[in-house]
Amino acid sequence: MFYLDSSDPKEVEDLFKWGVLSGVTTNPLIISREMPGADLEETIKAILAVSTGPVSVELTEPTAMAMADEAERRWSWDWDRLCIKVPVNDLGLQVIRLLRTREKRYQKEGSRKELRINATCIMTPMQALLAAMAGADYVSLFWGRIADLQVNPAHVVRLTRESLSGRGYGKVEVIVGSIRQAGDVSCALSAGADIVTVPPQILRQLVHHPRTAETIREFNEAWEKQLAAAQVAIPTIEDARKELKSMGATAKSLRTIRGGGRNGDMVYFEYTNALGAATSLFYDIKTQQWASCLVP
Ligand code: E4P
Repeated sequence: MFYLDSSDPKEVEDLFKWGVLSGVTTNPLIISREMPGADLEETIKAILAVSTGPVSVELTEPTAMAMADEAERRWSWDWDRLCIKVPVNDLGLQVIRLLRTREKRYQKEGSRKELRINATCIMTPMQALLAAMAGADYVSLFWGRIADLQVNPAHVVRLTRESLSGRGYGKVEVIVGSIRQAGDVSCALSAGADIVTVPPQILRQLVHHPRTAETIREFNEAWEKQLAAAQVAIPTIEDARKELKSMGATAKSLRTIRGGGRNGDMVYFEYTNALGAATSLFYDIKTQQWASCLVP
């Protein structure tokens, strides 16, 4: 499954038209890069309007209580689709636990709100396991940043998926982010990622192949020629009669003209000349020239 790793509503709108995306992830760095100075609420609501599935928004407040309150404010933008992204450290684990407690309280009070939590900035399988134990629905591993540490990110993804599934957290989904090149996407999927969140420019690279572009160009050029050929004026028997008349044929000869057929670029007619000989009148579609000769 693919999410789009972007906070630009225009990109989200364009790429959701492909029908391959199931959600969106944002983070404070992406927002500051792609939408400098933009209002967060407006931006996220614009993204929600042009996408489907969960939209992850990260918490940035400095204390656990403030983060939990921040989560509730963000969540109120769309109770069903907002996914709260909690960075994983000791504070983050507390926030996840706090949010789950609040969620239970709401459900007891009669509101059936279910909160989605995406535990983020994860570099190790153990961080992912702790986040799952605290109550995360998703754990986000950062492929490119793990590779920066000279650690094999595929190994980390595989161990994380195995450790979650082996310890009763099979439903927790592994998201792989921090994708820096097209090849990372298939490596992440084969390592066991449930979801890969892909930046717009890399998603475009995934569908592009120079040989595909060349093949499509070749097919289109052939079809243009085909259409041009179909538009070539094929002379009718009337055109042939006119041509024959301009050559000085007698009225008797003109009465004998009949359609012969077509052979490649040549359209031919037949008539009997003034001396009574069977004669062909040709029209060359390519050169658009008429010619006549006796039938041998
Ligand atoms: C995904 O959820 C992350 O926010 C994102 O992919 C981080 O990528 P970066 O390493 O390019 O900042």
